[in-house]
Amino acid sequence: MGGFLLTASHNPGGPEGDFGLKFNTASGGQASEVLTDRIFQTSRSLSRYLTTDLGPLDFDRIGEQRHGELLLEIVDPVAGYADKMESLFDFARIRELFSGGFRMRFDAMHAVTGPYAQELFVRRLGAAPESVDNGVPLEDFGGGHPDPNPVDAADLVRLMDTEQAPDFAAASDGDGDRNMILGRGLMVSPGDSLAILAANAHLVPGYASGLAGVARSMPTSRAVDVVAERLGIPCFETPTGWRFFCNLLEAGKIDLCGEESFGTSSSHAREKDGLWAVLFWLNLLAVSGKDVPTLVADHWQEYGRHVYCRHDYFIADSKLGRDLFDGLEAAVGKLVGRSCGRAEICQSDIFSYHDPVDGSVSDHQGVRAVLSDGSRIVFRLSGTGTAGATLRIYLERFIPSGQNCTGAAAELTAELGRSARDIARLPDLAGLSRPSGII
Ligand code: CO
Repeated sequence: MGGFLLTASHNPGGPEGDFGLKFNTASGGQASEVLTDRIFQTSRSLSRYLTTDLGPLDFDRIGEQRHGELLLEIVDPVAGYADKMESLFDFARIRELFSGGFRMRFDAMHAVTGPYAQELFVRRLGAAPESVDNGVPLEDFGGGHPDPNPVDAADLVRLMDTEQAPDFAAASDGDGDRNMILGRGLMVSPGDSLAILAANAHLVPGYASGLAGVARSMPTSRAVDVVAERLGIPCFETPTGWRFFCNLLEAGKIDLCGEESFGTSSSHAREKDGLWAVLFWLNLLAVSGKDVPTLVADHWQEYGRHVYCRHDYFIADSKLGRDLFDGLEAAVGKLVGRSCGRAEICQSDIFSYHDPVDGSVSDHQGVRAVLSDGSRIVFRLSGTGTAGATLRIYLERFIPSGQNCTGAAAELTAELGRSARDIARLPDLAGLSRPSGII
């Protein structure tokens, strides 16, 4: 009927950290809100539950073990997964790449992907053994925060700026569903990564027959939309949360999907998949003969660049945060025509999603403002509770193809960020003139 994952996901683990439980249904997807709610309601009327003491269990022995009425099977998840990956990607071409001296670094962050990385990159693809860093899973992730982003994987980002940088680097999170992709001197933004995978999917065996469609979460950059338009395939814009992709995947409407929070995947699974994304990139590098910075620069030249950056404003008083966001929603109709640096707002709304598969409607998913130069600002309020609220501002500045697309995202979006701050009236209402976090 499904499976439980005992995991801290991308959060710190161990006695002082997180301990989470994920439930995935038989299709592999996350449980729907309806099912989760039914389980919760049922749990409130439980009068008893049964337990049994099996004594110490041997989790290292593959195969079936019988304990009275209970049949326990220990499986090797690595082998089955690696076989599946071999059916999707051109392992022969990637092996050639490594045998030609190509160097990579994969940071498993002492989480679950270490043994997978060892099997895939080192054993099956011939990467050097030192390609896998922090490859031994530890119960507390070695005290680290296993989230692949420029802050928590800062060492890897720094390495890619040095003379000793390998050709390619990547990291994954605690339970292996997130990914970060790096080339020499460059981190590929998640929105760009999704767009580049979509634009080059025809080069990869598992996707060579074409994509049914693609999807991204609403705050994710619209880089993939431009690719979908060129390919003549649908592009779905969903609320934040992987389960919205699951419906589209189940219905065969999409083959690739992703979100700005370092999650990417395809129709091979019903979850985001970090190692899959790394293999997809390796396949593209092997077949195109280009390095990461060249692939990215060529993509921007072809489709333009959607420069992406997120500004977080922490508002200590959660009621003030709520009021500020309510005010922004109420003013959404009046934003059109307002100038924003060198452009003006030509379209604005409160995002609501009508699921084309199950007909459900999700309202109030964030405020969107599209600018006349193709840029976009998205506002969302998160973490409202007793401990304050955070206004997240997703900045997307569009630079058309043919123009100079290079430069650091934080600098290229700084002016747009100041306009967004003033639209949200953060200085007037909350006394905040600078973001508390730039991601
Ligand atoms: Co995770």
